[in-house]
Amino acid sequence: MKEELTPLSTEDGLKRLCELTGEGKLKFSSAFGEEDQVITHFIAKNKLPITVFTLDTGRLFQETYDVMDLTRKRYNIEIETYFPETSDVEDLVRKKGFNSFYESVENRKECCFIRKVKPLRRALRDTSVWITGLRAGQSAHRQSFEVLEWDADLNMIKYNPLLNWSYEEMQDFIKANKIPVNSLHKKGFASIGCAPCTRAIAPGEDLRAGRWWWENSQKECGLHETKAAVN
Ligand code: ADX
Ligand code: SF4
Repeated sequence: MKEELTPLSTEDGLKRLCELTGEGKLKFSSAFGEEDQVITHFIAKNKLPITVFTLDTGRLFQETYDVMDLTRKRYNIEIETYFPETSDVEDLVRKKGFNSFYESVENRKECCFIRKVKPLRRALRDTSVWITGLRAGQSAHRQSFEVLEWDADLNMIKYNPLLNWSYEEMQDFIKANKIPVNSLHKKGFASIGCAPCTRAIAPGEDLRAGRWWWENSQKECGLHETKAAVN
């Protein structure tokens, strides 16, 4: 599968993956970032049998909800939304308050685990291939990723069809196809996650510098930390 999919364009790769994989077994996770919007565009344009879903952490920006609704209308597609377990969030805020993520990397990862990683596992139950909008240019860490990987945690194939697109290539494609994007990008927000954990970046700053900006960590929430090669 890897040899077949890796050389294909994003659009052809997604089409071929649908031919190779059983109906109802493909899911694409969208955070409504620019990369995600390009993939949604290809899925909708070709009416591909790929379920689009999002993880609503409960702490997103209003602008992110706006672009979700805009996307739903523009492409006339359904988007599955997964929320964290109510009892997990209730326990967390009772014990540690609403902003525990600023206190330590451990606390921050606990919140990401409850609000993102656990719901992701639920979303991908009964799925064979998880499609993401990861791009190697987003960070040094992501440069080591591959178009097709094995996610050892989830026990499934992970397909990153936009991995090798440059930032400029992506911007040109968005403009040419009038793809709706989060209005926060115009205000200097490059990578957008939860509101309390995302800030705008200054010109020349790393694209992910505005995520968990107070940390000196690898800046991952746990969705994309384990991987192994796949053939
Ligand atoms: S994150 O792990 O640091 O939050 P980032 O925002 O760069 O990730 O997005 C990378 C990819 O992870 C997205 O293209 C998407 O596939 C997935 N992803 C991240 N956050 C979400 C979310 N809230 N809902 C669905 N998918 C997400
Ligand atoms: Fe919690 Fe921040 Fe992670 Fe969102 S990004 S899940 S608010 S720690």
